[in-house]
Amino acid sequence: MNMSIKTAILNGVATIEIARPEKKNALTVAMYQAMSEALRNAVTDNAVRAVLITAQPGIFTSGNDIEDFMARPPAQGSQAMDSPVFQFMQALMACDKPVVAAVTGAAIGIGTTLLLHCDFVYVADDARLAMPFVALGLVPEFASSVLVPQLMGHRRAAEKLLLGDPFTPEQAVECGIANAVLPAGEVVNHARRVAERFNSLPPGAVREAKQLMRGPQHEALLAVIRAEGEVFSRRLRSPETMEAFQAFFQKRKPDFSKF
Ligand code: COA
Repeated sequence: MNMSIKTAILNGVATIEIARPEKKNALTVAMYQAMSEALRNAVTDNAVRAVLITAQPGIFTSGNDIEDFMARPPAQGSQAMDSPVFQFMQALMACDKPVVAAVTGAAIGIGTTLLLHCDFVYVADDARLAMPFVALGLVPEFASSVLVPQLMGHRRAAEKLLLGDPFTPEQAVECGIANAVLPAGEVVNHARRVAERFNSLPPGAVREAKQLMRGPQHEALLAVIRAEGEVFSRRLRSPETMEAFQAFFQKRKPDFSKF
């Protein structure tokens, strides 16, 4: 069991809570593995009617752990999809029960892109979403290169994916990433109540309806994830990314003028 991912099953809801506040809930390989396992268990456990993804208050996640990325980058080539981060993406996409997310504070990188694969997203008024992949020398992942332009159009997607501009909870609702904005102290309870509503709905119909809603795009999105993953893994080893990561840990601005 990974202590930075807390899981519990209560009243039909499998909760996955990101709990590594000392590192702003940055996600390590072990945390992706724990989340994948919890998602797979939720699929097979008949007592689970919905999944709730949340985090300790104040920060949803600062994205992938940058130190982990440097020490253990996802494999390149044909083994890339076996890496824990890609296993997590596939587990979330394969979850045929409703997934509800409750976001407080910053949701950076995969913290935002994972929301694209949840069925319900509730954001606190203090939430800040951002996908700063390019600023890190990287490229969008988790099919965000396709799903974000699809949701909001190319121009608004370019602000978020090329410039990496953060966006407010209200903008997240307006562009269709989130359902509603709630006060920070209420967002988790609200999301839990939505998840619990599935206790009184017929589970077979819910699963088949979700499969019909997600199914037609499923294979195409997996292909996008693979294509993005190839570029992402290669770029993780690039001098541009090394400069960005070193600058982060040295608490300075990166200098890309030499590239
Ligand atoms: N990976 C590894 N460590 C991280 C991290 C990450 N993604 N995000 C934060 N941390 C660590 C910091 O290095 C720091 O560690 P230290 O106390 O040992 O120095 C600690 O968490 C606190 O972070 P800090 O930056 O001091 O907090 P802050 O409140 O000033 O800023 C964030 C919070 C989330 C805005 C900022 O940490 C940040 O921008 N993180 C990187 C986000 C990112 O680019 N993620 C994309 C990955 S693809």
